[in-house]
Amino acid sequence: MSEVGVSTHSAMQGDGFYNRHSALQEAAILQVLPLWRSIVESASLRNGGFVLADYAASQGKNSLPPMNLALDTLLQKEAAFIEIVHTDLPSNDFSSLFAMLENDPGSYLRRDPRISALAIGRSYFQPILSAGKVDLAWNSWSLQWMSRLPRPIRDGIFIDCCKDAETRQAFDRQMQADWETFLTCRSQEMASGGALLSMFVANRSDLPGWGPFWGAFWSVLTEMSQEGQLSGAQLDAISMPIGARTLDDIQAPFAKDCRFANLRIEHLEMMDGPDPFWDAYLETKDARQFGWSWTNMARAVVGPLISDALAGEAAKDRLLNEIFDRFANKMAADPQRVAHCLAVVVLRKQ
Ligand SMILES: C[S@@+](CC[C@H](N)C(=O)[O-])C[C@H]1O[C@@H](n2cnc3c(N)ncnc32)[C@H](O)[C@@H]1O
Repeated sequence: MSEVGVSTHSAMQGDGFYNRHSALQEAAILQVLPLWRSIVESASLRNGGFVLADYAASQGKNSLPPMNLALDTLLQKEAAFIEIVHTDLPSNDFSSLFAMLENDPGSYLRRDPRISALAIGRSYFQPILSAGKVDLAWNSWSLQWMSRLPRPIRDGIFIDCCKDAETRQAFDRQMQADWETFLTCRSQEMASGGALLSMFVANRSDLPGWGPFWGAFWSVLTEMSQEGQLSGAQLDAISMPIGARTLDDIQAPFAKDCRFANLRIEHLEMMDGPDPFWDAYLETKDARQFGWSWTNMARAVVGPLISDALAGEAAKDRLLNEIFDRFANKMAADPQRVAHCLAVVVLRKQ
């Protein structure tokens, strides 16, 4: 059993790989910028400056649009300082984040000497900033990750494909507990009147969601296992500590008094997720590119998890490449739009 709140999975694929292969995530971020602008505009100056938290920043490239947009407004409010605090797991590739902030032509650090960038390597299922410090907070594409894998998934990599009721219930319980822990910790860190926008993978009954995508990935793994390239133990070790919440799951802690931990839901929607790779495929009809765009996205996200599952394996690098090559071929053989959705939640501290 892991220590409470310490996430047991690894962060994204390092060496800037996530930065280079997260166009899907960026596309969804761009969809919520108008909402984010309205939240930033509501922020009032306190203590002479602003503190913005960017929870689960990964390697930072996708944080630039929301941070730059926030700065467009905050720099006009005569703040003496603006601190941007990027947080992520200790295993995150923070070197790529700082290199990007230094070198990217769109880096907010080039804009004004009052702006500073800080980083914290700690799971957000723990308190990570001092009480009342945060005026505005951004959090995208991370809360589908659980603090721990409640139990291995024996018949897939992703819980939505799992047929075992007890395993599904264990995941539901962990997702709910993590949501409440996250809310409680953030509430302590937020200033009164402060706001947090969070966007994460969600479940809607009218959409297939991520099941077919990760089901295709699983079929590659089982194929390689049947050929004797992956052992049964290795297959068992590959389970994603990821889940998708419904609207009811998100609202559950707020059922009584519409409040939880001094937080109120100011906005909640289920947003259709983008598929920029499908859109590109419709233009170009390049199935190979479609396959590799999705494969690189998958590798950026689950590459470290699969690498951990193959620890001690002499042919690990070859196997990893083989898994992702086969997945790219599978995706290219039958291009389909990935029809998924995201929850967008704005929380306000009382
Ligand atoms: C898909 S990336 C999202 C990065 C970026 N926010 C974006 O929208 O592109 C998910 C990030 O969540 C981070 N993460 C997962 N669990 C976390 C936790 N418990 N505490 C902090 N970060 C976590 C991962 O390390 C990873 O960097």
